[in-house]
Amino acid sequence: MSKLLTDSVLSAIGNTPLVRTSRVMASAGFHLYAKLEALNPGGSTKDRPAFSVIKHGIDTGDIGPGTVIIESSSGNMGIGLAQACAYFGLRFICVIDPKTTVQNIRLMKAYDAEVDLVKEPDSTTGEFLQARIKRVEMLLTETPNSFWPNQYANKYNPIAHHKTMSEIHEALAGTLDYLFCPTSTCGTLRGCSEFIRANGLKARIIAVDAIGSVIFGGQKAKRLIPGHGAAVKPGLYQHGLAYDCVHVSDLECIIGCRRLVRHEAILAGGSSGAVLMAVEKYREKIEDGATCAMLFPDRGERYLDTIYCDEWVIEHVGDVSHYWQQPREELQCATAI
Ligand SMILES: Cc1ncc(COP(=O)(O)O)c(C=O)c1O
Repeated sequence: MSKLLTDSVLSAIGNTPLVRTSRVMASAGFHLYAKLEALNPGGSTKDRPAFSVIKHGIDTGDIGPGTVIIESSSGNMGIGLAQACAYFGLRFICVIDPKTTVQNIRLMKAYDAEVDLVKEPDSTTGEFLQARIKRVEMLLTETPNSFWPNQYANKYNPIAHHKTMSEIHEALAGTLDYLFCPTSTCGTLRGCSEFIRANGLKARIIAVDAIGSVIFGGQKAKRLIPGHGAAVKPGLYQHGLAYDCVHVSDLECIIGCRRLVRHEAILAGGSSGAVLMAVEKYREKIEDGATCAMLFPDRGERYLDTIYCDEWVIEHVGDVSHYWQQPREELQCATAI
């Protein structure tokens, strides 16, 4: 069925556009595209695993009338699940922590989700993630007929992303050489990697992780920008999923996001800025004429009070606007559209 006529909002998930981004790295000798996952109906790539996990639960009978869905998320997965649960008429409790933005809480509540706030980090690890997981476990034992999607370990998270990769593969007619993929649960990375292996494709995945994340063996440290990165190695992680990995700082995320607006008019989330800067850091290794795709997981509206707020940027990383305020390129109206 075409995306212009769909059975439900959930069937509008996927088939997001792959956009040529030829201005932001104009001097590069390779072709660069961005997969705009913000154009999923719930506003992020997490619509895919949220729907996949809930649909599988319904198909197997693990989720039925009256089932209460309980998950830990501070952002996009919570919103994706809230959307899917609203559609299927399921009660959804999202366990959040104080770092969850007011906007994300409002979005989940607007979809009729309940939020359960964990106020203190885990006493052993000092991390909110473990505190949230413990709270989920407690709620699951207290709540009859409850179901935990468990996005960090549920294989229907990566399975949802086989389609993400197949869409890119088809759009580029099999020419993809490099996929730059941000990582947190590793659902996207694993799903894309499995599709590449299963179909014997030549594409190589470059994982994009945050400095301060432990997924690829880095030292745990405080991070400002949510989305990519994890304080605990996710259950879905497997050695060898990525060909290489690039670590990106919070400052680089901000620069990447602001450059995307300036050169491509793309208002994207923090991990998209990270992905762009990962390409920048990796560009010497990319052969001329290669075809590269970047996964952009969500939209910039969710970061208006941080990445796109000049005062916030100055307070947290200083006055760094010179990194993106190079003279604007001549707008090439004739070739732009
Ligand atoms: C904005 C953003 N970027 C990147 C990711 C990483 O995706 P994955 O969990 O599939 O590794 C997420 C996951 O929540 C995200 O919300």
